[in-house]
Amino acid sequence: MSTDDPYAERLDRTREAMAAVGADLLVCAPSPTMRYLAGWTEHPSERHLLLFVTDDDVLFLAPEMYGDQLEADSWVPSIQTWDDGDDPRALIEALAADLEIGDGRVLVDDRMWARFTFDLRGAIPDASFGLASAVTTDLRIRKDDTELDRLREAARITDAVCVELRELGEEAIGLTERDLAEEIERRLSAHGGEGNSFEPIVGSGPNGARPHHGHGDRTIERGDPVVLDFGTLVDGYPGDQTRTVVFAGDPPEGYEEVHETVLNAHHAGVDAVEPGVTAESIDRAAREVIEDAGYGDEFLHRTGHGVGLEVHEPPYIVEGNDRELEPGMVFSVEPGIYLEGEFGVRIEDLVVVTENGCERLNDTPRTW
Ligand code: GLY
Ligand code: MN
Ligand code: MN
Repeated sequence: MSTDDPYAERLDRTREAMAAVGADLLVCAPSPTMRYLAGWTEHPSERHLLLFVTDDDVLFLAPEMYGDQLEADSWVPSIQTWDDGDDPRALIEALAADLEIGDGRVLVDDRMWARFTFDLRGAIPDASFGLASAVTTDLRIRKDDTELDRLREAARITDAVCVELRELGEEAIGLTERDLAEEIERRLSAHGGEGNSFEPIVGSGPNGARPHHGHGDRTIERGDPVVLDFGTLVDGYPGDQTRTVVFAGDPPEGYEEVHETVLNAHHAGVDAVEPGVTAESIDRAAREVIEDAGYGDEFLHRTGHGVGLEVHEPPYIVEGNDRELEPGMVFSVEPGIYLEGEFGVRIEDLVVVTENGCERLNDTPRTW
């Protein structure tokens, strides 16, 4: 694979950012940042599989069994391999000497396991250490065109399944949350999705009042509000949307008002999105609607989170985050009201900040 865009550009920007903070070496473990920079990653495991970036080198230190795979699937030109049975710590020491890190500054992947960080510290004892997010957050927070294409496709598939689920109507009554979660997974795959962004949330009745309930054995009954929060992956980029529906029957007392309040808060949040405003101002716009309706204490979380190679990443749409929004940022707007022991309502779409406002990535009916 060549270093054609976007990876050449990402590497250039990484090096500029490293220079700006005085970093001599950035080391990634298998992680979203490894994927962002190298175009390849693996599940984290016990073997030392590390990506090293300096101002003029970029290379993998990898178990021999990954050699061919890295050559084929990553654009990174240099791959140093070690055999099972070798001591990778000695190799890191030799590599650090080659790269002349000495008493320089090393940034380690925020997702690096502690044991690998300890090994790096042991191998480069005079270096100072910090977190890679000091440079990678700003790189990854604005999505390039390649990333936006993938996020749009993940949202399109997620939306298609959302529309189909609504049509289940009476058919959903009597299914367990788990049955419906499995149905969601089957349909996401059938539409070309590459697995879950996260375990689908099917929160029926009182379970919907727990924002990250997941799914369990409860049977969906007539009149149950059901929080449906799921998404699929496209080349590592996730969808993430939520609708709250009643498949059949009459909802509990108060549900319609709560749903309308959450919907109004959701629209207020999305309407407030434009470049130059702060992340916290989006949270305030949505939260104000819920507070004015008297449910402020029942909105249990921030209004949203950035979405990219990680389903939760900066920018966080939360009070206290005065980061200004910029074109290319992608995040969720997902206010909710959670009435313990009764039901919950959440409505979530992803948006991309544009030059003038925002583009919604999700666009399916938001009614219940
Ligand atoms: N699902 C809301 C949050 O985790 O922020
Ligand atoms: Mn979600
Ligand atoms: Mn979300």
